[in-house]
Amino acid sequence: MKEKVKWGIIGLGSIAHQFAKELLLVEGAEITAVASRNLDKAKEFAQLYHCKKAYGSYEEIIADAEIDILYIATPHDSHTAITIKALQNNKHVLCEKPIALRYADALQMIEASKENNKFLMEAFWTRFNPSVREALLKIKNGEIGTVKYVNADFAFHVENLNGNRMTDLKLGGGSLLDIGVYPLFLAYLILGIPNEILAKSNFHESGADLQTAMILNYNQAQAVLHSSFVSSSNMKATISGTSGRIILNPLWYQAQSYSLVTNNGKVKFKLPTKGKGYTYEIEECHSCIKENKIESTLWSHQNSLDLIKIVDEVRTQIGLVFPSDII
Ligand SMILES: NC(=O)c1ccc[n+]([C@@H]2O[C@H](COP(=O)([O-])OP(=O)(O)OC[C@H]3O[C@@H](n4cnc5c(N)ncnc54)[C@H](OP(=O)(O)O)[C@@H]3O)[C@@H](O)[C@H]2O)c1
Repeated sequence: MKEKVKWGIIGLGSIAHQFAKELLLVEGAEITAVASRNLDKAKEFAQLYHCKKAYGSYEEIIADAEIDILYIATPHDSHTAITIKALQNNKHVLCEKPIALRYADALQMIEASKENNKFLMEAFWTRFNPSVREALLKIKNGEIGTVKYVNADFAFHVENLNGNRMTDLKLGGGSLLDIGVYPLFLAYLILGIPNEILAKSNFHESGADLQTAMILNYNQAQAVLHSSFVSSSNMKATISGTSGRIILNPLWYQAQSYSLVTNNGKVKFKLPTKGKGYTYEIEECHSCIKENKIESTLWSHQNSLDLIKIVDEVRTQIGLVFPSDII
């Protein structure tokens, strides 16, 4: 039997639960240890997901020599420091999105990956979604002609925005960094780096953006994107070209199908995911580690750097400032 990849999870909040469930679906994965700032919470989590070790501090799991790869599921502001420490302690890292609060921090993380020769990937799971991958291939093969327009959003009502990490500026709160990165990711994946960005936001009293509208202008193409904690949408994404369009069906960022619309009519392609779809990024980590790669070719270090640079520009446009921006 092949040896399993030994995972550690840091920060046992809502996405950590979802991710742990999906780790259990991947044959070559083992949840070896979990860490919380609270030992009781870690023990409870460990029991739920059949994990043998529970730590009451992040330092302990980072020092655990048995772990191959750490999944970092803490709020955005802590991604850089924890990732760098983990890489320096001989761990591969899958770090939640957004990779960091800003480009300069992401660059340091990537340098640490190179210096320590350890795998690092931003957990952009949508990149590995089968519908997204197949749709992308069709676009590349010219099945909708030249892409002229991308329309995508990520919007839902957050019940209580007060005292929540989502509006806490210290933690990198706001819809842009939490969910706006998804439509930006899709536009970037299809059209690349824009020539120009226009963006406007409405704000919470904390200063975090509640909703953000973005226009990305390219040479003969445009993307119209939106993120929101205060309005909802059905979350489909449309990629429109000179001879047809592709629709990533709702919820597009975890699509179970996509539709191709051309002069010949509309065809729906169903590609149901294993689990919710985090399994694919897990499998990507496994194959990169086995091949001694420090980055994925599907969601590379440069991809993360490009995306966070775009986010930085949107932040400048809307005037979203985090306390740590002020030196
Ligand atoms: N890929 C996806 O689909 C997806 C979905 C949701 C979120 N995310 C990303 O995952 C990260 C975590 O999001 P989440 O929704 O899981 O958040 P969450 O439910 O608030 O959990 C975050 C966890 O981080 C730890 N933590 C460390 N420092 C903290 C601090 N100062 N304040 C609050 N918590 C702190 C806590 O774990 P302990 O108490 O155990 O230490 C907490 O439970 C974010 O970067 C987010 O963008 C990704």
